[in-house]
Amino acid sequence: PPVSLIGVPTDVGAGHRGARMGPEALRIAGLQEALAARGVDVVDVGNVDGPRNPWVGPVDGYRHLDEVVAWNRGLMQATALELEKGRLPIMLGGDHCLAMGSITAIARHCRNTGKKLRILWLDAHSDFNTSNVTPSGNIHGMPVACLCGIGPQALTHLGGDAPAISADMVRQIGIRSVDPEEKRLIRENKVEVYDMRYIDEVGMKRTMEAALAGVDDDTHLHVSFDVDFLDPSIAPGVGTTVMGGPNYREAQLVMEMIADTRRMGSLDIVELNPVLDRRNRTAKLAVDLVESLFGKSTLMRD
Ligand code: ARG
Ligand code: MN
Ligand code: MN
Ligand code: MN
Repeated sequence: PPVSLIGVPTDVGAGHRGARMGPEALRIAGLQEALAARGVDVVDVGNVDGPRNPWVGPVDGYRHLDEVVAWNRGLMQATALELEKGRLPIMLGGDHCLAMGSITAIARHCRNTGKKLRILWLDAHSDFNTSNVTPSGNIHGMPVACLCGIGPQALTHLGGDAPAISADMVRQIGIRSVDPEEKRLIRENKVEVYDMRYIDEVGMKRTMEAALAGVDDDTHLHVSFDVDFLDPSIAPGVGTTVMGGPNYREAQLVMEMIADTRRMGSLDIVELNPVLDRRNRTAKLAVDLVESLFGKSTLMRD
């Protein structure tokens, strides 16, 4: 399908400033050109607008809640507009709080069109915190819980009704940093998690087969790609690095196996922070991996 790039230059949900520069870093790394060169019809619709980052501490367990809500309302509308045009939206983040706006719109689109939704959450973190258990108050650590209806009303009811999704739609891959109480919530809500120990033991191929099991012609696959999913040795340009992530070949396999399903209907690219990067290498790597998501392959067959 034709693609729309939507910039979401915000870091109000993060613990470091700089992810607001992620959309420009991805543009400068040549995302649009790379997709166009693959024959993809791609337009850049520009940036969603939102409030500045006030850079203050948590209030009642949340940092910048009003600002996070405002950014996500704007993104939800922008995402819905592109989906209604039959286009595949790619969210250029921006911190991971933006997945609430994108996925709320995507979930509604799926309900309206009778599609099943499967969300692949590629991340070092589970992002299933609540105000009671968060160690930071940073809302980028909470989007999955909020989408499942656990969180402040303003976020759980972004799309009017709560919850936007159910936990059984989610597959988390690459997880290696979960806060203790967050772990309890993940278990209680039965989120399917393929953590790094699982990937080490079983291998990435079988991990992805398990995560993609049941995806069929009626499935809308949403990929929420937190760049800190990748090992920090190849992807240093993120605020919350965690050792021991997938290497370059494993990441390529993830993307190629998603491409093989031909069911990806939307994509978030989040947490890229060029302030912490070296010569924009993390954005360039993200573009390289997105090419694979759109079918670029090193395979000799096909
Ligand atoms: N679990 C930590 C927290 O809640 C880190 C979350 C990191 N999330 C992210 N999207 N990078 O503060
Ligand atoms: Mn559609
Ligand atoms: Mn993360
Ligand atoms: Mn994340």
